[in-house]
Amino acid sequence: MNSAIQYAKENQEKYVNELIEYLRIPSISTLESHKNDMLTCANFVADKLKTAGMTKVKLYKTKGNPLVYGEWMKAKGKPTILIYGHYDVQPVDPIELWDNNPFEPVIKDGKIFARGANDNKGQNFAHIKSVEAFFNTERELPVNVKFIIEGEEEVGSENLSTFLAKNHDLLACDAILISDTSLYAPNIPTLNYGLRGLTYMEVTLTGPNRDLHSGSFGGSVANPINELAKIIAQLQDKNGKVTIPNFYKNVKPITKKEKENFESLKFSDKKYAKELDVKELQGEKGYSTLERLWTRPTLDCNGIFGGFTEKGAKTVLPSKATAKISMRLVPGQDPKEIAKEFTKFVKSITPKSCKVEITELHGGKPVLIDLNNKYLEAASKATSKAFGKKTVYTREGGSIPIVLEFMENLQAPAILMGLGLDSDNIHSPNEHFHLNNFERGIYSSIYFLDLVKDLK
Ligand code: BES
Ligand code: ZN
Repeated sequence: MNSAIQYAKENQEKYVNELIEYLRIPSISTLESHKNDMLTCANFVADKLKTAGMTKVKLYKTKGNPLVYGEWMKAKGKPTILIYGHYDVQPVDPIELWDNNPFEPVIKDGKIFARGANDNKGQNFAHIKSVEAFFNTERELPVNVKFIIEGEEEVGSENLSTFLAKNHDLLACDAILISDTSLYAPNIPTLNYGLRGLTYMEVTLTGPNRDLHSGSFGGSVANPINELAKIIAQLQDKNGKVTIPNFYKNVKPITKKEKENFESLKFSDKKYAKELDVKELQGEKGYSTLERLWTRPTLDCNGIFGGFTEKGAKTVLPSKATAKISMRLVPGQDPKEIAKEFTKFVKSITPKSCKVEITELHGGKPVLIDLNNKYLEAASKATSKAFGKKTVYTREGGSIPIVLEFMENLQAPAILMGLGLDSDNIHSPNEHFHLNNFERGIYSSIYFLDLVKDLK
């Protein structure tokens, strides 16, 4: 194990250069125009798994982008760790706010800047390199390892979900190791034990059958943008509570112990507000910021469009307006049920003067991981050793749709070993990843695989 660490240390520069190659591939899953890049990227990952020493490396076709699989199952009687990650990335817009081309990685101040640097190429690459370090020093791994790296996490993981339902044996394991989340703060090793879920809806209001002159017609018919804005405004009350009936019905309050853990993290509202350049934080009344982020459901408009949006002015009363609205969910809430309640409520508050069309985009179930498990304990020791500090436990506000399905189908705990930082600008211009977190991620993974070898 120590020789693997040594090897990883000595080969850091080579690893970073390979990560740069990975980041050059514009694997944006939501844009049809990037279909070929998805395949190129899947093949790149497969190649890297092979050179790392994995066997049975294969692309599994799906209705969407291929899944990349590889395994090494020669550690008889030892546990099997399934390592999950995603090679797809988010779109780059608004491109003009990037300081470099998002697919021409740049290293500055110990950080690598590119789309996908943190989310999730940098983080999953750390695990591929940890395995490579073992094979190149000890010729074998201390445990059995399977990799499944998908190309559709950012669009809801539906095809992986279908694949999982049919391939239970292929993916069977004792624990699922995932790095697609954040450290609590720089240099603080962190394990995340919760993820929020998601329901994502699109609402289109149609007023008159065509765009109209706002002078000739303004005042006679409904303006769908005005009406949509009123609807959105009605979805939350003045205390920041979502007004959709039954929205909070199954939300469980957090335990006293959890509250104490959050308090021990010494979160500073002031520092947070300053970092985001806002005078004041805002959200559901009666809860601390960490509680609101990690344990309370929310509703946010992610995009709204209609009418004239170019520079300058055009007097128009538009025919249509659309809003994309997402809700982050917490344990107890079911994405499908929430979608139904949302649809019913929005229909009920839409005025007769407009037609409404509501569609559900993707979603994901919330996750809460039992802290009482030996794989998590090993992960805590491993990350603590790699970072040289005590590991903290946090929940996350983001979602990873497949995690609950993995846990239920494979009957194994998920280990969320976050390596990113919330300040890394994921899904945003100038996304980056700290190279020291990449390095410590590789060490964490090496220590973890070694520490779990006797857990079976
Ligand atoms: N890596 C993120 C999830 C994440 C972000 C976890 C921040 C913790 C902190 C992941 O790639 C992601 O963006 N997930 C989507 C899921 C959605 C598209 C179903 C999300 O959370 O919006
Ligand atoms: Zn993401």
